[in-house]
Amino acid sequence: MTLTATTPPAARAASRLETPWWRDAVVYQVYIRSFADGDGDGTGDLAGLRARLPHLASLGVDAVWINPWYPSPMADSGYDVADYRAVEPLFGDLEQASAMIAEAHQLGLRVILDVVPNHLSDEHAWFQAALASAPGSHERSRFVFRDGRGAAGELPPNDWTSHFGGPAWTRVVEAVGDEAHPAGEPGQWYLHLFNTKQPDVDWTSEEVREEYDDVLRFWFDRGVDGFRIDVAHGLTKHADLPDVGEREFPHQPFGAGDHPFLDRDDVHEVYRRWRALADSYDEPRVFVAEAWTGDPARLGMYLRPDELHTAFNFDFLVSAWREPELRTVIDGTLAAHDAVGAPPTWVLSNHDVYREVSRYAREQDRPQLRNEGDFAGRPADLAVGLRRARAAALLMLALPGGAYVYQGAELGLPEVEDLPEESLQDPVWFQSGGEHRGRDGCRVPLPWSGRTAPFGFSDRADGAAPTGEPWLPQPASFAGMTAADQDGDPTSTLELYRSALSLRRSLEALGDGSMAWVDSGEGARDGVLAFTREPGFACWVNLSEQPVALPAGAEVLLASGALGGGDGAAALLPTDTAVWLRR
Ligand code: GLC
Repeated sequence: MTLTATTPPAARAASRLETPWWRDAVVYQVYIRSFADGDGDGTGDLAGLRARLPHLASLGVDAVWINPWYPSPMADSGYDVADYRAVEPLFGDLEQASAMIAEAHQLGLRVILDVVPNHLSDEHAWFQAALASAPGSHERSRFVFRDGRGAAGELPPNDWTSHFGGPAWTRVVEAVGDEAHPAGEPGQWYLHLFNTKQPDVDWTSEEVREEYDDVLRFWFDRGVDGFRIDVAHGLTKHADLPDVGEREFPHQPFGAGDHPFLDRDDVHEVYRRWRALADSYDEPRVFVAEAWTGDPARLGMYLRPDELHTAFNFDFLVSAWREPELRTVIDGTLAAHDAVGAPPTWVLSNHDVYREVSRYAREQDRPQLRNEGDFAGRPADLAVGLRRARAAALLMLALPGGAYVYQGAELGLPEVEDLPEESLQDPVWFQSGGEHRGRDGCRVPLPWSGRTAPFGFSDRADGAAPTGEPWLPQPASFAGMTAADQDGDPTSTLELYRSALSLRRSLEALGDGSMAWVDSGEGARDGVLAFTREPGFACWVNLSEQPVALPAGAEVLLASGALGGGDGAAALLPTDTAVWLRR
């Protein structure tokens, strides 16, 4: 079943037509493997995405960001790219990609792809050539190959560990040798900050820089509107590859900006170059950085006027559902972005983190909740989690700037925490020796319709039965949570998102711009986030244990849950509820 665009998109407020689209866009993240499967083999694909584009148009988002769709051995779900200028056959082909881009544009949706510049797949032609060449060769200069330490080079070149666990180095058996590294013998080591099948490229190489320029142009020339930059805080490395020691990022061990491999000052040269390239198009293309910096001011450096346009604000994502922490994050974010003239970008979830419903379902007993250890095995109240997630959505969409919505958030999906071990596919699970289950629980294929798996995920255009099971099993608890179930139900999370996005588009006050906190004299108090935006808008979020009285006479535009009060009395905003008001 294909959902049709039942609600025509709201017109954009006239005063906002002058704002460049990316300053306040709401972007929907399509994890293509799990979004919709148009050929019935159990893996999401371009055919499925094309069939479901009307769902996104009727949701009211401005753009889609699609996770890597390039040919890949899938050692890290597509973040191991074997060819940047083609489409993974499981997902479709270049022709379908072009058709998808054109269809999205016809529906008024921009298209953002994912570029992975820190590393590529060990099956990429460049790495295959490096393995087949001698140490010191030109082919190896595109990567970070080094001799090992120890008498016979048997120890890794330094102490760096992979983000997925274990050493960040793998030793190769030399196919072609030199005197120091005989053919057929264990020889040099190569760097991989992630999986062993994701060798890091060397950004000191001009050839590497030109290659990625060309990859960007390849897709920009096919109409793509922008790129999300994977691990944008990676790429460049300290020339001496020094040990990291005990000191952890983001506590800069060598002075700010000189960590051996993260958030280094020299990475900004790359983005100045990319900005010039994006600006060379008649309709300039845009970037959003995945940059984990742990410091709003360092994040702001990526957003200087001659660098990237936007960056995910992960401090907001990892913050506990607590008023003082969220207020601090919002203030810090606004200040750091204002300083460089960039719009903030708010996000509650993505394909790497626990879904917000399940994060907020836990006791919020620490300032940040980010790691599996903060959730797994701790009691969860999913009804509370959903209530907070709905309130968080209204908060996010009312804040100045843009926002990202991860697929399934609009359905209020929780993390799938009980995937059978034999179904797990994330390299985190394997590289941690089974200690961490990894990120598969937020990547389960979406439920579209029906009462049982595959919940319409594998609906084929020709109506034929699916031939494969979803690549990760869907839980029976998805029954009742499908897009079809929620379509038209005014109490559903899908309709809450639709209403919010439609209002957001039509209200002059929302999107890019500024906000002002309501102070206690105006009725706000501890545990309440209340702010106004001009003209005539206010958002109130109650994170305290008690209901709070809303300002007398304010007109309720939208609420994330039922309000108390009534009968002419000022409405009461219950715990874990957000409201949008016309003042
Ligand atoms: C980013 C991606 C993540 C991937 C990693 C390595 O963090 O979001 O999914 O595993 O980079 O490419």
